Parts: sequence; structure tokens; C-alpha cells
Amino acid sequence: MAYSGPFQPGDRVQLTDAKRRHFTIILEAGGQYFTHKGAINHDEIIGKDEGSVVQSTHGADYLCFRHLMVDHVLSMPRGAAVIYPKDSAQILVEGDIFPGAKVLEAGAGSGALSMSLLRAVGEHGQVISYEIREDHLAFAKDNVEEYFSGMPKNWSPRLGDLKKVTQEDLGGPVDRVILDMLEPWECLNVVRDVLIPGGVFMTYVATVPQLMKVMEGIRETQSFTEPRAWESLVREWKVEGLATRPEHRMNAHTAFLIWARRLADGVTPPRPQRRARR
Ligand SMILES: C[S@@+](CC[C@H](N)C(=O)[O-])C[C@H]1O[C@@H](n2cnc3c(N)ncnc32)[C@H](O)[C@@H]1O
Repeated sequence: MAYSGPFQPGDRVQLTDAKRRHFTIILEAGGQYFTHKGAINHDEIIGKDEGSVVQSTHGADYLCFRHLMVDHVLSMPRGAAVIYPKDSAQILVEGDIFPGAKVLEAGAGSGALSMSLLRAVGEHGQVISYEIREDHLAFAKDNVEEYFSGMPKNWSPRLGDLKKVTQEDLGGPVDRVILDMLEPWECLNVVRDVLIPGGVFMTYVATVPQLMKVMEGIRETQSFTEPRAWESLVREWKVEGLATRPEHRMNAHTAFLIWARRLADGVTPPRPQRRARR
């Protein structure tokens, strides 16, 4: 699939009707898509610019855009819950996922975060994604391959338990580690052993007990900076004249993000001095 320019065969295209309903098709020369308002000929879309309107044989209008990654992530089949775009955006920036980075991820789940990481590290980077469940790994591979129209060369999806992974398995230290799993505190020794000094570690947990356990676990290793924890809340707004106001509904909670950096070996970081509470 191309990412920009006029539509080409192989592009995944989202058609939107007058009622803002979406239909997704993959363009092929001579192909047809049948709606309840007649057929749409793919050839009428191929060669047009994105944002064009095509008509079905019964005269209904459909707006055409390529599927964005966010559309793919929210509509693709899932084995496990995906990291939502608002949170993967935080991971990319706060996790400092740079072009050329070597990133270790677990679990691969449905492959949603893998896609964002793969795009961010670029062709000179590498993403190694461990997944303990064969069925989930199959979902991740299918979803990633479908989005990139093939297996990306910079991706190494692996079936296995992260708890057993060593630096040797990874061909040396990694620059970043991102965990999205039920019990990340069980993998903290692995993270410490494989992450390069200065490397960023982020993990994503849904509940307060998990948050407490992983924060305490990070402190106990004495190998990381004081961890930070936060959540991101995104509230959409309706903007229509005097009816301008926040939307009534929002995804109020997805998960907490936790962030820390690997210290150099043998270092005791300066800790803030807290006055004893009376
Ligand atoms: C919530 S899902 C990850 C979703 C993924 N981040 C995404 O965006 O699609 C958590 C996954 O972690 C996997 N998992 C749990 N413990 C693991 C371990 N020790 N090693 C590797 N994978 C593990 C689970 O099987 C599950 O598929």
C-alpha cells in the first residue's frame, strides 16, 4: 500500500457515506464493491487523489481516503487488547523511540504497538517482539503483515517467554524496552540485564495494584532512575456554534504508563532528601 499520492491498486481505502458510515476496500483493477446503493467500480477510484468523491451506480456519494494506521489498529482482528493510539503516542515520544533504535517489546499481543514502533525506528532500526501465546503471535503477525503489505525487514516477532530472554538472544543490549503484559514486575531482571545504560524502559499496566507492584519492583532493582507514572486522558470536543462543549463520552481510563531510565552499573543515584513526617 502506498502512503500518499493518487490511489493505486493494492491501497486499503476507506469509503464514507453521507451518514458517516465507513466501508473499507482493497483496490484492484477491474474490481467492484457492492453497497445497498449499487456498485462502486474500483477503476473510478484508482488514479484519483485522496479526498475525492466517487458515485455508486445508484448515484450515492462516497468520500475516499486511504486507511491510516490508526484506522487499521482500531478495526483489525484482535487476540489481546491493543494499546490505544493516545497511549502509543505517549510511548513513542516519552519512550524516545528514535530512527535506528533497537527496541525490545513484550507481549506482541495483537501487534498494534509493534506497528507504531516499526514506523518510528525506520528501516535502520530493529523491533524484537516476544509473545508467550502462539495464537496471539499469529494475530500480531497477520495484522502487521497486512498493514505493511508483507513482513517488515526490521521486525523480529518471536514466540517465547520474556522472563527467559538474555542479551545473547537479542544479539547484544537494546536501546529501549516496552512492556505491555499482566505481570511486568516478573521481567524486571531481564529488562535490567538487556537494557543499555541510559536506555528508556516503559511499561503499561491497567490497574492500581499492578502500578504499585511495578513501581516498587523498579526501585528494588536499584538499577533505574526513580520511576515516573502517569495516565493520559483525551476528551474530544463538539464544536458547533453555541453548542460548543466537551463530548459527553470519553475513554476515561485505558492504563497507566510507567517510565524509568537504566543507570550505569554500580551507580547509586542521588535521591531527593525527604523530611521525616511527624
Ligand atoms: C495486552 S496484550 C499486548 C497488546 C499489544 N501491546 C498490542 O498493542 O497489540 C499482552 C500480551 O502479553 C503476552 N504476555 C504475557 N506475559 C508474557 C511474557 N512473560 N512473555 C511474552 N509475552 C507475554 C500475553 O500473551 C498477551 O498477548
